Amino acid sequence: MKQRAISLSKVTLKLGGSEIYRDVSFDVAEGEFVCLLGPSGCGKSTALRLIGDLLPVQGGTVQVEGLSPAEGWERTAFVFQSPRLLPWKTALENAAFGLAMRHPEIEPADRLARAQRELDHVGLGDDGHKMPAMLSGGERQRVSIARALALDPHIILMDEPFSALDHTTRTRLRQQIVDLWEQTGKTVLFVTHDIDEALFLADRIVVLSNKPTRVEDIVTVSAPRPRDADASPELDRLRQRLINIFETLEGREAAGALAI
Ligand SMILES: Nc1ncnc2c1ncn2[C@@H]1O[C@H](COP(=O)(O)OP(=O)(O)OP(=O)(O)O)[C@@H](O)[C@H]1O
Ligand SMILES: [Mg+2]
Repeated sequence: MKQRAISLSKVTLKLGGSEIYRDVSFDVAEGEFVCLLGPSGCGKSTALRLIGDLLPVQGGTVQVEGLSPAEGWERTAFVFQSPRLLPWKTALENAAFGLAMRHPEIEPADRLARAQRELDHVGLGDDGHKMPAMLSGGERQRVSIARALALDPHIILMDEPFSALDHTTRTRLRQQIVDLWEQTGKTVLFVTHDIDEALFLADRIVVLSNKPTRVEDIVTVSAPRPRDADASPELDRLRQRLINIFETLEGREAAGALAI
């Protein structure tokens, strides 16, 4: 069996006095592409923050390659919904910026060379001199992906990275991220609330419930890539299963609201 890249075991969490997690457990294997799917506010971003050591673990266990998040966070890199680029730095400098923060001991020229390689990787090799304002939304997000890749992390944590982009750009970047994942063999944990996005990307989909959050279901997607949900009976069946899960969750939430 492959080594566990990420492991959450019976994780409990309270924030601002309210119970967010009630015994959340799931694993991500080394090299696996897992999507974390669930309704708004269920704690998807929170899972990434626990794994990346941005939020302390209160109960249960979170492990990154067998280490605590405090010991293992450097094996991870984030890609957020908004690219968070520095507007006064070029695309190349932005792509090198994570590396400058995490590894100031690396020579600046080497940092820029690594950043350039990752810009090439995401198809922006000739755009390194441009300022963020000169780039499209999709290009900016690709710079932020290059910034994460430049860190050469074992694990990439992506939090709805394409949700602010238009449909065409989103579709293109989804394919690009699958290509990068196949080329690099990285482990990816990708947060989304889009069922079709999860079906396109994931080896497995971890579905979270409403709060207090548990793992509602774990769905394995074995359809070969590239995937087309409209042309694959397996994906269509899984899509229906996920829609049913969401309808059950919504029904439960409505029932809970009525009880109040
Ligand atoms: N610092 C905090 N104090 C109190 N509550 C918090 C704090 N941070 C997050 N929460 C709550 O924890 C829950 C989970 O938040 P989280 O951002 O992880 O949700 P999410 O699943 O990523 O939602 P979305 O799909 O809308 O991005 C939410 O109900 C949120 O209000
Ligand atoms: Mg979120």
